[in-house]
Amino acid sequence: MTTANTEPTAVPGTTEPRLGEELLKVTGLTKHFPIRKGVLQRQSGAVQAVDGLNFTVTRGETLSLVGESGCGKTTTGRLLTRLLEPTSGQIIFEGRDISHLSEGRMRPLRRDVQMIFQDPYGSLNPRHTVGKIVGAPFKLQHVKTEHGVKKAVQGLLELVGLSPEHYNRYPHEFSGGQRQRIGIARTLALRPKLIVADEPVSALDVSIQAQVVNLLEDLQDEFDLTYVMIAHDLSVVRHVSDRVAVMYLGKIVELADRKSLYEQPMHPYTVALLSAVPVPDTKRKTKQERIRLQGDVPSPINPPAACRFHTRCWKAQEICRTTEPPLLQLAPGHQAACHFPENQPQDKPVAPAPSSDTKPS
Ligand SMILES: Nc1ncnc2c1ncn2[C@@H]1O[C@H](COP(=O)(O)OP(=O)(O)OP(=O)(O)O)[C@@H](O)[C@H]1O
Ligand code: SF4
Ligand SMILES: [Mg+2]
Repeated sequence: MTTANTEPTAVPGTTEPRLGEELLKVTGLTKHFPIRKGVLQRQSGAVQAVDGLNFTVTRGETLSLVGESGCGKTTTGRLLTRLLEPTSGQIIFEGRDISHLSEGRMRPLRRDVQMIFQDPYGSLNPRHTVGKIVGAPFKLQHVKTEHGVKKAVQGLLELVGLSPEHYNRYPHEFSGGQRQRIGIARTLALRPKLIVADEPVSALDVSIQAQVVNLLEDLQDEFDLTYVMIAHDLSVVRHVSDRVAVMYLGKIVELADRKSLYEQPMHPYTVALLSAVPVPDTKRKTKQERIRLQGDVPSPINPPAACRFHTRCWKAQEICRTTEPPLLQLAPGHQAACHFPENQPQDKPVAPAPSSDTKPS
């Protein structure tokens, strides 16, 4: 983890990558999965999984994507790593538009952009040895190693806290945490620049989640890695994030640096998510009420008009049902998409707060 806007570390005049530079830029990123019906397979609608995301990822930072199940986090991760092709919008990686690169032209880039999957059981081939699994990227990318693939793999195993002797073992011989370490070793093989980690610890025992998170942090420091970390729950990413983007029904509703997001959330949805998280916050004067959101997340096939959160928001007014609130910068480094944001700086009113504005307990 780094602090946002980390000072560049490169020597002036060299072309070394510099922490704090923009590594990835996403504009209008959209993925609609068509729904087809009948013998003719006519398109009858679409799952609006990801709808018009705009954000950047800075070299060396950890940006977390957080939101309830089905809000489009995994789809976003798969778009960034180009395991999926966007319906529209742009993904710029190191200044290059990779939005629609063919599989062949993406291949060299696969070294730079890697994904860690949620399920350490399903993502490792049970019939392959650890050596074959972790060494696969070298073979796939035809990468020559100085002392042979076996030595390189054993080095990677040590790096992630496993033993080089595990080389000839099979995935079923390992615990969940160890399997995730094997997956991380494979991800690191080609020294990627960006890693999208899709809920990397949520399938693991709570007791070992922290160890794997700490390993990811240590590796980030050692290799200047940049992470997009996906999580369900704001508590999981609290300590590893530099910035957090909160998603709801395919859209980013709030994006801010860690401190302001957790201490001064502006979007009512973030406020509700945070109220469900037990936060040891000694500075908070009043005990935070738990906000129970009404109903389920609506379907992304037919999402609510204008503000997608209006069907569950206790602050919703007529304008929320008719006019979509844009994602605006409401404080330095803090964007939110809401007509009536919470905790906004007093001197910059965005919209008059309604008098009937009450929070349920
Ligand atoms: N290949 C697909 N075809 C059709 N719909 C899809 C496809 N992949 C995802 N979806 C739908 O897109 C929406 C977003 O899914 P996604 O997996 O990105 O959500 P998520 O935020 O990762 O959820 P979770 O927290 O449960 O992992 C969901 O409604 C999902 O059913
Ligand atoms: S725009 Fe309206 S409905 Fe949407 S989050 Fe803000 S107050 Fe709630
Ligand atoms: Mg997911």
